[in-house]
Amino acid sequence: MSVVSIEREGEIAVVTVDNPPVNALGQALRQGLWDAVATLDADPDVRAVVLICAGRTFIAGADVREFGKPPVEPHLPDVVNRIEGAVKPWVAAIHGSALGGGFEVALGCRFRVALDGASVGLPEVGLGIVPGASGTVRTPRVAGAAAAVDLVTTGKPVKAAKAQAMGLVDAVLSGDLREGAIAFARAALEAPLSLPASERPVTDPGAAFWAEQQAAVARRAKGEAAPLRALACVQKAVQAPFAEALAFERATFLDLRGSDQAAALRHVFFAERAAPRPAHLGEAKPLPLRNAGVIGGGTMGAGIAAALRDAGLPVVLIERDAEALARGLTNLQTIFDGGVKRGKLTPEQAAARVAGVSGATDYAALADTDLVIEAVFEEIGVKRAVFADLARHCRADAVLATNTSYLDPRAIAEGLANPGRFIGLHFFSPANVMKLLEIVPTPETAPETLATGFALARALGKIPVQAGICEGFIGNRILKRYRAAAEALVRQGVAIAEVDAAMRGFGFAMGPFEAQDLGGLDIAFLQREGARAAGQDVPETLGDLLVRAGRKGQKTGGGWYDYAPGDRKPQASARVAEVLAVAITAGPALDRAAIAERLVGEMAAEGEAILAEGIALSPSDIDLVEIHGYGFPRWRGGPMHYTARKG
Ligand code: 3HC
Ligand code: NAI
Repeated sequence: MSVVSIEREGEIAVVTVDNPPVNALGQALRQGLWDAVATLDADPDVRAVVLICAGRTFIAGADVREFGKPPVEPHLPDVVNRIEGAVKPWVAAIHGSALGGGFEVALGCRFRVALDGASVGLPEVGLGIVPGASGTVRTPRVAGAAAAVDLVTTGKPVKAAKAQAMGLVDAVLSGDLREGAIAFARAALEAPLSLPASERPVTDPGAAFWAEQQAAVARRAKGEAAPLRALACVQKAVQAPFAEALAFERATFLDLRGSDQAAALRHVFFAERAAPRPAHLGEAKPLPLRNAGVIGGGTMGAGIAAALRDAGLPVVLIERDAEALARGLTNLQTIFDGGVKRGKLTPEQAAARVAGVSGATDYAALADTDLVIEAVFEEIGVKRAVFADLARHCRADAVLATNTSYLDPRAIAEGLANPGRFIGLHFFSPANVMKLLEIVPTPETAPETLATGFALARALGKIPVQAGICEGFIGNRILKRYRAAAEALVRQGVAIAEVDAAMRGFGFAMGPFEAQDLGGLDIAFLQREGARAAGQDVPETLGDLLVRAGRKGQKTGGGWYDYAPGDRKPQASARVAEVLAVAITAGPALDRAAIAERLVGEMAAEGEAILAEGIALSPSDIDLVEIHGYGFPRWRGGPMHYTARKG
């Protein structure tokens, strides 16, 4: 079947695009649109054209899979120009998302109508490129320079109502989109047509505006190239004639398309889309997820409960006594209050989220729960006792999960009746915000239980990555190596602040030492002490020296750095220099780039070991763990992609 079909409704032609899954603009679709313009212009009975899409969305953009290959005619900018130049006016009828090339096609249409709830946007910067088919050039002519800058430099889509207020769409419709768009087209024919986008005037907001935008975009971009290049395209579009600006945009697009950053971001794009439905799940069906229980209302339990509520699941929160339960419920309330403060939730929504949680100290409240996630103290005895209680009170088919960070899930599940329903679900803090979910099956975990873990991730909007059993699973194991490598640099005389600056320069929001000061040095210390007490040979780390000197991080006023009271700015510490002096032997100097290469190389080396042991199933899974759990810069593609590309 052709990806473009034409039907007639009297004098209105309806062009329907049907190119599943998301109507991406592959060559066949571009050709179909190209031909449709000629066909309809030649038809004397047609007075206007409605462009509409089948399936879940309007055209979602260029076909990203074609980006690695040489461009094939007809090129998208020509298709958009041709639609704009059609004798019969086109009306884009948008449902789902009109993104990137999809929105550019809509900009070529004389009018845009959108279904209530649809969104439009130019997300190309998220792929390391700029719009390549006039998005930066037509948008300012339709909605003004400021709106265009916002759209192209953030890449964030806007919903129909806002898009209409910005001038990006002409009407927001509800009900039947096709009927509404046809009626809109008929009405539009009754009035003089507006100018095509390329012919509309645009006002230059002036030098101060551009300087301000450049500073703001550079600050946000932190090393990412595309946002600033997109800004330059909009500036050109506002200051130069249409054709010249279009050529500038196209040249920028082609230049960036072949860049390392674009390759990295494409890699992440496809890795993220593959993650939720890995092939190895086969035919295994997830179990129903109608409600959930959480054991423990501390940092993680409250965050997990909040994530479950955000996904609409009713939650039972169990704590060990009434006092702890009250604390847990307060923790949850604080999370939702924060959502209201940041404008993410209305007070009514927050109240509804809280109302959907029932607290209990008696496990009987879990009698009809589909899934229970345990997030109690990281102690094997406590966790085992919890699972014994769960086994007594939950349905035999309820999925039982542990959020342990370091304990062996097999040991936690030992003695559990029906161990097929047991699984590790390792969330990251704050659990209602962080996208990563490590899914850790034991050898006994049933395929349906594993599939349920992935289904849960999809319901929560998280990125699931399957991990095998080892200390720290994928993420914390790499973190340990990363921290050890960072300490090794300090031992050879590299300044702590230099290591942090190098990693920030690489694109992390924080370096390894300042991050430890924020999270606290004591947790890892206690874990090492526990292992030592159990007879393991765990060498003394620099972190141990600091904790023994009373420096546990920001919460004790200092860790790797000093902090002035009430100030989170790290300051080099004479006391730290004194404490660590015994362990430091000056070695060769390293510049920041070399420091970052060394540390990322160590992450990738641990990743290789993890792959060889079968702990991770693919290098891209490791990249997702680092990007979504540990702040690895997305535009570098993750440690495995980055290292492989460097060769
Ligand atoms: N090209 C190729 N494949 C794409 C694609 C694209 N632009 N967008 C999505 N897909 C594929 C996905 O890989 C996935 O494939 P799979 O089923 O084989 O895994 C499938 O379509 C469904 O994607 P999602 O799971 O993301 O579907 P959702 O329904 O959750 O979301 C969407 C739909 C909001 C449209 C989302 O897919 C999306 O954001 N897509 C990317 C949009 C984008 O970035 N467009 C700009 C492209 S660059 C461009 O247009 C350049 C131009 O200026 C020249
Ligand atoms: P926390 O100390 O903040 O919370 C633990 C909660 O469990 C407390 O509220 C406590 O009252 C409750 N609790 C203890 N025993 C209980 C029992 N028998 N029944 C019911 N409730 C009980 O600890 P946190 O940080 O939330 O950690 C919980 C688990 O999550 C641990 O296994 C930890 O390793 C893991 N984890 C922690 C992360 C973090 O960043 N804090 C990240 C990922 C996992």
